[in-house]
Amino acid sequence: VAVPATDHETVEAINDAAATGETFVLEERLRGPECSLLALCDGRTAVALPLSQDHKRIGEGDTGPNTGGMGAYAPAPIPYSAAELLATFVQPILDDLRAKGTPYVGVLYAGLMLTADGPRLIEYNVRFGDPETQAVLPLLESDLAEVAMSCTRGELDPGAIQVSDAAAVTVVAASPGYPAAPVTGSPVTDRAEPGDTALRFDAGVDADGNTAGGRVLAVTGLGADLAEARSAAYARMDLVDFDGMQVRRDIGWRAPGAGLGSYAALAYDDFADAIVFAARREDQVKIYRIPVGDPESTKSVAVLQEREGQSLKRLATDQNGGIYLFDWERNAILKVDERSE
Ligand code: GLY
Repeated sequence: VAVPATDHETVEAINDAAATGETFVLEERLRGPECSLLALCDGRTAVALPLSQDHKRIGEGDTGPNTGGMGAYAPAPIPYSAAELLATFVQPILDDLRAKGTPYVGVLYAGLMLTADGPRLIEYNVRFGDPETQAVLPLLESDLAEVAMSCTRGELDPGAIQVSDAAAVTVVAASPGYPAAPVTGSPVTDRAEPGDTALRFDAGVDADGNTAGGRVLAVTGLGADLAEARSAAYARMDLVDFDGMQVRRDIGWRAPGAGLGSYAALAYDDFADAIVFAARREDQVKIYRIPVGDPESTKSVAVLQEREGQSLKRLATDQNGGIYLFDWERNAILKVDERSE
């Protein structure tokens, strides 16, 4: 799959694909934050679990190569309800499969992108998602085995499924060199005390307690809101160690209220194709915007705004390319109007 950023890259990608002599498909490039909708299905009825968001890139600010997922959080505070997304993206599929005599029973995972024109489907998976599940399932108060059994019997009762109104944040620890060439075989140490309420999920740990995969383990913190859950997750991760451990410190950075106080701001403006970041030295804050995909403009870094005496720690983008910073001193969200600069 090629996801070209410019017309030039698009032409190159088409030429490369044509040169293989194989059939290839051109699709519209979708832009916007992604969101995962995991639905339990009994063949006729579907129930949405809390919406979640994955972090696919290895680097903070969603930069660098794609991974299997470096963290997730739930519920994802997005401007669509799980019920409306379920009605649009899950129920019609369930109805169609049932009408065809092949009812679908299990988890249907709709990978969505929240574009400026509304939510769009990227893919379906017929399974739980990773690492979203490590954030979503701890919020399920009903017994998962009973819920799964009711799906297999065709008796899923939406009213019987209890979901906590807490929040969960999952952070993944990966091996050095991941995703290109993970180096494994290091002992994993963990100073967690019995009774720690945060959860640890192992993925690439062998029977001797050594790293044995790209993504080694995940921890999930729970809390009344995303900020609390995030603190609990990082407090738990701080007890874990292995050689060259890679952990993103910004899981949840797109979510309002996740409390990313320590993060040096960096954002990818999906709609304007630009990298935006803020640098702070003493009282001076400079916000930079670097257009990507244009070799001329990336040579110089454009200063978007300069501010004095403010503590601007976090950036986020909205679906129209607007950029937001959280001002920790004033406890306020500021919008940077980059178009007018
Ligand atoms: N989190 C992406 C997936 O499970 O496919």
